[in-house]
Amino acid sequence: MKPKKYLFILLLLSTLFLVYNFFIYTDSSAYGNVHLSEKAIRGENLWLKNNCNSCHQIYGLGGYLGPDLTNAYSFRKNDNYLKAMFNSGIKTMPKFDFNESEKEELLQFLKEIDQTGHYPSTNAKIKPNGWVEIQYKNDVHEN
Ligand code: HEC
Repeated sequence: MKPKKYLFILLLLSTLFLVYNFFIYTDSSAYGNVHLSEKAIRGENLWLKNNCNSCHQIYGLGGYLGPDLTNAYSFRKNDNYLKAMFNSGIKTMPKFDFNESEKEELLQFLKEIDQTGHYPSTNAKIKPNGWVEIQYKNDVHEN
């Protein structure tokens, strides 16, 4: 093949790659249109800062020392229980020292994550193009 043809193929593949990436990164539906409230985002920041994810999972992603907390909120149905757990230092979970408003923020984070769906999902469908489509429990978080 002539060098010019190689160049053409290279440019074509690079362009396709960029176009494909553009669609993937701008497709908001891929994230389930989840919009956390400001309070929940403060909770998420506490979650990240304190490395809760090193032991807990959200949608199965995270460490495995503690339980998956995607649906901890609806599973426990008890705000005070969850808030007490944050500072309890039970088993291998370290004893944190969150104040009341921080506990409220973490709780709000777990509450809103819980509303985005179920894990493990019984409603996940794998589409022919490989995307996994999840049927959301309610449409509070959908645009
Ligand atoms: C070193 C590991 C570790 C870290 C870090 C950790 N946890 Fe835990 N967590 C655990 C373990 C283990 C349990 C289960 C305790 C039990 O079985 O009673 C647990 C239990 C919980 C529970 C109770 C779940 C339920 O349904 O009973 C909540 C809520 C929780 N953790 C929240 C958090 C939050 C929020 C953070 C970060 C601020 C955090 N954890 C950080 C290990 C950890």
